[in-house]
Amino acid sequence: MIKGIDWEAAVNARRSTRAYELRPVEESKMTLLQSFIGNIQVPFEHTVSIRMFKARPDRKLYTVFPAPPDGAAFLSDTDVCSVSAAGFVGEILILYATSLGLATCWYGHYTLAELERIMPHLGANAALPMPKWGYGKGVVQGQRAICITPVGYWQNEGVRLADRVQTSFFSYRRKPVGAFLEEGISEESLPPEILYAFDLARKAPSAANSQFWRFTVSSDFKTISIAMPVGYKHIKWEHPNVDIGVCACHFWLGMMMKNIDCNILLNEEQGRSVWQFLV
Ligand SMILES: Cc1cc2nc3c(=O)[nH]c(=O)nc-3n(C[C@H](O)[C@H](O)[C@H](O)COP(=O)(O)O)c2cc1C
Repeated sequence: MIKGIDWEAAVNARRSTRAYELRPVEESKMTLLQSFIGNIQVPFEHTVSIRMFKARPDRKLYTVFPAPPDGAAFLSDTDVCSVSAAGFVGEILILYATSLGLATCWYGHYTLAELERIMPHLGANAALPMPKWGYGKGVVQGQRAICITPVGYWQNEGVRLADRVQTSFFSYRRKPVGAFLEEGISEESLPPEILYAFDLARKAPSAANSQFWRFTVSSDFKTISIAMPVGYKHIKWEHPNVDIGVCACHFWLGMMMKNIDCNILLNEEQGRSVWQFLV
């Protein structure tokens, strides 16, 4: 499943797309997506599932653009490790869709009531008062849609000014690897394979492009950790552990591209998810 795809090309091609043609994903690509979803395998335990849904452009699912017909939701339990795993597993699908030439956009602040209407998933909780954006905050009972993404075709004509501004301010600007290395490690001292994987990791998308991950490497280069700083809070985004999972996914794919297998440990430490890669 993971082998045989040029993940580096997908990482470099992916962008958050906020203007879509209002046509469905063609059947052959949809079949590939569905079969990929059914076969995603990662070397750690998790509760993540991915559901494709059909959306309507005249209803407000995404706050800033009309929904294309197809989308995907990343559901999981809501403890910090589970939402982080949703980032990891979700990003595999996002990058796979990119490799098929499809456009996507991680979306945390979707309209929950509209998602529930088109993709019922709240069960008895649907009767309770609903948060307006996303599933809400903190740990709740049962599974939630942690984030969603449109899946479709970039409409490059008629992109609204707001979207253009958002794209040029946020997209693609990434700090260098050195900005994320902790404990006195320099880029130059890293084995080339780890530096390569970090280079893919630093290109991960994050809410408002905040790039708040930190990389730690043991002195024998056998243990690599990815986490956010202890106590980190994002001003607007309630689930920064998702973004850490996305970043960890890029790192893992980078190691796979270099044919290095890792064991992965995912743990909660000091209130945040910590990803450890054991080479
Ligand atoms: C977990 C997560 C949640 C996000 N939520 C939203 C969102 O609610 N609305 C939005 O317009 N973009 C959202 N984004 C997209 C980011 O703004 C975008 O990834 C970032 O600006 C970097 O741009 P790029 O994806 O084009 O590289 C989200 C990204 C991530 C990783």
